[in-house]
Amino acid sequence: MIEWDEAARQFHLRNDRVSYLVRVHDNGAPGGLYFGPALAAGQSYRHLPPRDFRGFSNRVGEPIPLEMPTPGSGDFRMPALVVEQADGSSVLELEYREHTIVGGKPAIPGLPATYAESDGEAQTLELLLADERSGLEVRLAYTIFRDLPAIARSVRIQNGGRAAVRLTTAMSASLDLPDADWDLLQLSGAWARECQVRTRRLVAGRQSVGSVRGASSHHHNPFVVLRRPATTEEHGEAIGVSLVYSGNFLAEVEVDPFGTSRLRIGINPEGFAWTLEPGNEFATPEAVLVHSDRGLGDLSDAYHQLYRDRLARGTWRDRPRPVLINNWEGTYFDFTEDRLVAIAEVARDLGIELFVLDDGWFGARDDDTTSLGDWFVDRRKLPNGIDGVARRIAALGLQFGLWIEPEMVSAKSRLFEAHPDWAIGLPDRPRTESRQQLVLDMSRPEVVDHLFDVLSAVLGSAPISYVKWDMNRNITEPWSAALPADRQGELFHRYILGVYELYGRLTEAFPDILFESCAGGGGRFDPGMLAFAPQAWTSDNTDAVERLSIQWGTSLAYPLSSMSAHVSAVPNHQVGRITPLASRAAVAFFGVFGYELDATLLSTEERNEVADQVAFYKRHRDVLQRGRFVRLRGPFDGDGNETAWMAVSPDKRRAVVGWYQVLNRPAPGPGRLRLRGLDPSLRYRVSAWPERDDGLARANVGERGGDELMAAGLFLGMDRAEAARQGDFQARLFVLAAGGAES
Ligand code: GLA
Repeated sequence: MIEWDEAARQFHLRNDRVSYLVRVHDNGAPGGLYFGPALAAGQSYRHLPPRDFRGFSNRVGEPIPLEMPTPGSGDFRMPALVVEQADGSSVLELEYREHTIVGGKPAIPGLPATYAESDGEAQTLELLLADERSGLEVRLAYTIFRDLPAIARSVRIQNGGRAAVRLTTAMSASLDLPDADWDLLQLSGAWARECQVRTRRLVAGRQSVGSVRGASSHHHNPFVVLRRPATTEEHGEAIGVSLVYSGNFLAEVEVDPFGTSRLRIGINPEGFAWTLEPGNEFATPEAVLVHSDRGLGDLSDAYHQLYRDRLARGTWRDRPRPVLINNWEGTYFDFTEDRLVAIAEVARDLGIELFVLDDGWFGARDDDTTSLGDWFVDRRKLPNGIDGVARRIAALGLQFGLWIEPEMVSAKSRLFEAHPDWAIGLPDRPRTESRQQLVLDMSRPEVVDHLFDVLSAVLGSAPISYVKWDMNRNITEPWSAALPADRQGELFHRYILGVYELYGRLTEAFPDILFESCAGGGGRFDPGMLAFAPQAWTSDNTDAVERLSIQWGTSLAYPLSSMSAHVSAVPNHQVGRITPLASRAAVAFFGVFGYELDATLLSTEERNEVADQVAFYKRHRDVLQRGRFVRLRGPFDGDGNETAWMAVSPDKRRAVVGWYQVLNRPAPGPGRLRLRGLDPSLRYRVSAWPERDDGLARANVGERGGDELMAAGLFLGMDRAEAARQGDFQARLFVLAAGGAES
């Protein structure tokens, strides 16, 4: 997969799908020649840049692309690495020294990353660059995966000199592209409306998304795509860049005056400064680059496969995830052991498999003003402890799960009283309030040790099979009592390293527990978290209509197995909307399914419906959690009134199609929905869910060829009288089963 051409001084990373080419320029700096569809092996491509690039000239007078640009060199575009040396300058001459090519993929110390399970699955190139005057050594790592159009990049910086240096920018990847004819696609939003797809044309200058909040954030996901303006889900070129990191990030594109573009992604340089003592090394997070010439759908496929199978780890990576019920919206802080057990009992009768006790079980927490940090049970609510309630729920035949928010502390808590300096913030300045809680200084090993001890005690005290790890507040007044003045710029990164350390230790100590990450919903839905927790709470917004765009956007980068999605009560608690129960389920089915309500309040009719939903989901769980997700019709297209998507089993013998209409429209035309990803030579039995004797069912239920379903499609038309009865927020599922497959 990786070829080194000594004469051309060129590295060619190649598989059946893509080529990534790097050459060593005459001045010793490595430059990226190409990232795109696979090119022939055994050829020299070192002629590519002078013809394609008209960037700034460098010392040898040649306009060149650079893999690790540094400032002050004649390349006036954005740097990827800025190192302040003892004399105050940041000028470096990084020159190629040597390289190694190894099978597989070495881990990155202290940081989550994708991995290979065998040496044959991937190959890794490490380029060693050195600056002779300062002694700085920079190692660029590139992994190519055998079966995916993906390259993972990361950087290690070692101070081989005699004086300390300061890193103020250390990006994970910098990618030079020969033109700027791209749209920049980003996933942006806010609490309860995460991952909205936003697209803009690249223009001269810099354009970026990022976070300085201490978490990847609800506002921008650490994932961007450059797509050709004509690229669709099915066709065209796109380059995705995703950062395996949960803290402050920056993804930025610069278009230079000559119309080339440079993309960089990594830790946000804003608020970052890292002192590197002689002999010490700094590792950047990993950036995952995907190239597709087959549209956004194919780009997402690559991320889905990689993140589901080679980023997520542990017992739960490949296991079917349980259908859960969470009590948060059902009870909020107001519950007793009996009330929880009553909910669980109904849930058990409906087929639900896991009961999750959310916030409010510890300290004296009747609202969000107290007790974070006091991880011992509140005996007023749970007189028999966690163990008592967990055992009663286990006796019903359900698994038991628990909510925690380890990184936080309430000002009103025993922990804060004992250790006020463990909270981030300046003691002599007012602290910005946010959900009446403070953030623990996870950069301090004693804080991580303490949390490991108290949380291990809780998790070991009862039959707990699931943990929801929440994080509800961003970092303000960043300052650590444990760091010297000249190292405060390390706090944000050290914080995340501490979070990863705690996550790593807890998931190792409790390998059978299924961890779900959460940050007020999708406030830290990123690849860094997915390495520890294979699923995440996609959004606090459980409204079926809102979830269409949230789940659609999230699916650009993240697989179905990572997206948890629940049915909640109506009127919905985030938007007050009333949608049919069937529609809520039809949306939440696509992901890791569950409920977020008080099941005892369901009417008999609703209970029957829920039991049917749970049974439906269990029947198709493998397709809905691990199938290939295909986006058909989008909430961000046209007036956004219709959404359609589908999940297809890897052998293409089964599929579930979801079709959703926000507002009803009178006198509909003979609409058709063309499917994708089926086997054209197979015959599928088509059934509709929920089962109803209506025009949609009559037109589609029966046997159809995969060829017909993809070329002509399902029939969505209705007669006027039927359409008049539909009402708003309708959803319909179609199940496709070939041969003996279950329908
Ligand atoms: C966050 C989570 C919710 C719930 C509450 C509890 O907002 O996203 O799901 O757990 O905290 O306080």
